[in-house]
Amino acid sequence: MTAASARPPAAVTFDAIGAAYQDAFAASEPHRRSLDRLLARLAPGSSVLDVGSGTGRPTAETLAAAGHDVRGIDISPVMVGIAARQVPGASFECADIRALPLPRARFDAVCVYFSLLQMARSEQSELLGRLAGALKPGGHLMLATVPLEVEDVEVVFMGQTVRATSFSADRVLALAAEAGLTVLDRDEVLFTPALPGAGPEPQLFLHCRRAD
Ligand SMILES: C[S@@+](CC[C@H](N)C(=O)[O-])C[C@H]1O[C@@H](n2cnc3c(N)ncnc32)[C@H](O)[C@@H]1O
Repeated sequence: MTAASARPPAAVTFDAIGAAYQDAFAASEPHRRSLDRLLARLAPGSSVLDVGSGTGRPTAETLAAAGHDVRGIDISPVMVGIAARQVPGASFECADIRALPLPRARFDAVCVYFSLLQMARSEQSELLGRLAGALKPGGHLMLATVPLEVEDVEVVFMGQTVRATSFSADRVLALAAEAGLTVLDRDEVLFTPALPGAGPEPQLFLHCRRAD
């Protein structure tokens, strides 16, 4: 698989964007708030899976600095390389989370910050179910997405033409419930990335929990 067209679109997109992503998004206050919520609830040395770990900032870096055992998964080799250099206290692996077998009841928390948007609807819902199953009873799932009712629409994101799929906020909540999760907190914001000419985009942050 050497031709760009044969590679998963998200890998092509984020290999091209690389560290510019964190320049635009890593200082997000709502993202920090979500991490603070999680940190306040994790026992020392908790085991955390970071799905679509990107550059490792802010998620893996913040959680690893607090002493947690963080495993990041990302489909983009460029992102994995950046994260491994920037966050030596976490481990990172290049893999497509859709195809990765997940151990059951293994993690105290799973983070999914903006990593579902290049997946089909059926893949997003199937993945949420598997991630919920990978949580220990009582474990936390932090989910962030762009809550728009769009399916396979072409958009230009940070100079890359991508096809994006998402759900309205209510449908994301329904998916969490279908995955067996209870939503403890819902933070809907408008966030403007630090990019020339960028406007505000809607973002949804959920704090979900698997039953004890
Ligand atoms: C928008 S970025 C967000 C990065 C990070 N979660 C953050 O909030 O800073 C989405 C990340 O998810 C990764 N990603 C997308 N689809 C993926 C998949 N199927 N498996 C693993 N990683 C994926 C991308 O490569 C990218 O690094």
